[in-house]
Amino acid sequence: MPHILVTGGAGFIGANFVLAWLRNSAADGVVNVDKLTYAGNRKTLSSLEGDSRHVFSQTDICDRGALDRLFATYQPRAVVHLAAESHVDRSIHGPGEFIQTNIVGTFTLLEAARAYWGSLEEPPKSAFRFLHVSTDEVFGSLDANDPQFSETTPYAPNSPYSASKAASDHLVRAYHHTYGLPVLTTNCSNNYGPYHFPEKLIPLTIANALAGKPLPVYGDGLNVRDWLYVGDHCSAIREVLACGRPGETYNVGGWNEKTNLDVVHTLCDLLDELHPKSGGSYRDQIQFVKDRPGHDRRYAIDARKLERELGWKPVETFETGLRKTVQWYLDNHAWVQDVMSGEYRNWVAKHYAA
Ligand code: NAD
Ligand code: TYD
Repeated sequence: MPHILVTGGAGFIGANFVLAWLRNSAADGVVNVDKLTYAGNRKTLSSLEGDSRHVFSQTDICDRGALDRLFATYQPRAVVHLAAESHVDRSIHGPGEFIQTNIVGTFTLLEAARAYWGSLEEPPKSAFRFLHVSTDEVFGSLDANDPQFSETTPYAPNSPYSASKAASDHLVRAYHHTYGLPVLTTNCSNNYGPYHFPEKLIPLTIANALAGKPLPVYGDGLNVRDWLYVGDHCSAIREVLACGRPGETYNVGGWNEKTNLDVVHTLCDLLDELHPKSGGSYRDQIQFVKDRPGHDRRYAIDARKLERELGWKPVETFETGLRKTVQWYLDNHAWVQDVMSGEYRNWVAKHYAA
């Protein structure tokens, strides 16, 4: 059976991608390469136990020898690279891991992929793809009236996280330009949906609301993000992998620009409807807290290239996607409890202490 090699497939987007891939396509198996950091969770993949199309390898993408063995054993027709340190606030507290995984790890994976690809004969050689999943945060921050990010917006990353992702994007680009490696890059806006680790705004708000804890909103709450349901991001990745032009980058977005306060209000209103609490609204738990250092004011994505060239459009609106997400968290309390382990509690205590 042919395989694709997915890195970071036990994380939020990676696991959603692997689950959807195996649901939608019987043609390729998945070699799932994940170090299982605090953000990786094998329980998310428990429905794949016993499914021979899914091979899980607990491997660090900085481990060249292990990567070489995986390429040699499974001869993947493509790599979908999602493994990363992904949380901006953690990158501010400690950027080292971000440099290691996002830059050195991507470099190591590119080197392993280049060696493997160089050994292939035609036609598999021309058909091989290395798809790098990146973020809109590499473009920096917009003012209220600036046009949305396009594929040609200059890079201006502002956090250690976005700087490390920008560096990885540049390496991927260079491997195409210099060596001809058939790469594709996607730059996507903020995702939300099932299996999202509750350190990020949306799952944190839902988990804290249900636990009767404060809902922390940084600064004035008026920073703007574009939000995309994770299932729509996964369909965009599949589309780019199948039909994207090597060397090209594609912006992926949901056409949903919202202030953080709007997002938190909408979540509270959905919870008030789906899981009412006695004596008041979840909105009463909102608490404005100290702003994030260097907090980017606005991200916005122009995703017309992806629509024009590959016909991709998101299926979910913000309203339908958020409703599904809140319902998922209500129905999957055990998953949330499980990931809120000792490590998670340490992070919350350290980050929100002030
Ligand atoms: P996540 O933090 O939920 O998951 C990351 C996964 O990578 C985890 O399973 C972790 O164990 C694994 N990992 C970390 N370091 C590793 C290493 N050295 N070797 C192997 N595996 C390692 O992240 P996510 O939100 O699912 O993001 C996935 C990718 O999508 C990232 O590259 C991120 O930059 C990008 N992205 C995320 C968003 C978003 O809103 N979450 C938006 C755009 C792009
Ligand atoms: P986050 O989910 O961390 O994603 P990113 O920083 O990659 O956009 O944060 C989304 C927005 O929500 C961002 O503007 C920061 C803000 N935020 C809060 O206001 N409170 C919180 O507790 C967190 C985690 C984020």
